[in-house]
Amino acid sequence: MSTPHLDAEPGQIADTVLLPGDPLRARHIAREFLDGAMEVNTRRNMLGYTGTFRGQRVSVLGSGMGIPSCAIYATELARFHGVKRIVRIGTCGGVGDVALGDILLAQSASTDSRFNRLQFGGHDLSACADFDLLRAAVDAAGQLDIRASVAGVFSTDSFYDGDPHLVERLVRHRIVGVEMESAGLYGLALREGVRALSVLAVSDHLQRGEHMAPEQREQGLSTMVALVLDALAD
Ligand code: HPA
Repeated sequence: MSTPHLDAEPGQIADTVLLPGDPLRARHIAREFLDGAMEVNTRRNMLGYTGTFRGQRVSVLGSGMGIPSCAIYATELARFHGVKRIVRIGTCGGVGDVALGDILLAQSASTDSRFNRLQFGGHDLSACADFDLLRAAVDAAGQLDIRASVAGVFSTDSFYDGDPHLVERLVRHRIVGVEMESAGLYGLALREGVRALSVLAVSDHLQRGEHMAPEQREQGLSTMVALVLDALAD
């Protein structure tokens, strides 16, 4: 049975899924990091693959940008494909005391999105990472000697022309990364009973106007994938 947005057959998707925003990144990760990767989704060109890492099945699927797109894929993975662990691999804008290329392990995700409130009676949900995944990522970073910090991030619905005071509000609350998916992913993971974590490379600094060069982005992605795959391996 395929689902509205995934044409993978039952059993084709592993119980652990890496979720980059960009489907071409999913393909790149599958080709470079997984053994025997097979394409399992092409619907809407949201490419998905399943292969193995150290003998363990792992899938990688694009999520698209923003909470609605990410949540559609993550919900179908959890509800219809029996997925148990979802790790978003992405980039974020940095705020305050972070540098380009820093890797953030998102412990919590605040948001201007109403997505979680829609399902939580209008109340504010604490959108947080799964502790075991977070701890595994911290441990893997230590073992691989990768600098990664546990951080609060902010998921915005508005890439352009959002709250003009957002940066100062984030600094005030010690939030150091801005992206567009994690709060929704964390909320739905809590509701669906699956584990989720977002691992983000700082690709831009919102106050300093700095941007990563394409080679730096590539390097950041490789470091994050190595870290995440190590954290997820038994
Ligand atoms: N804002 C939102 N999402 C992002 C950003 C940003 O500055 N950088 C990378 N993803």
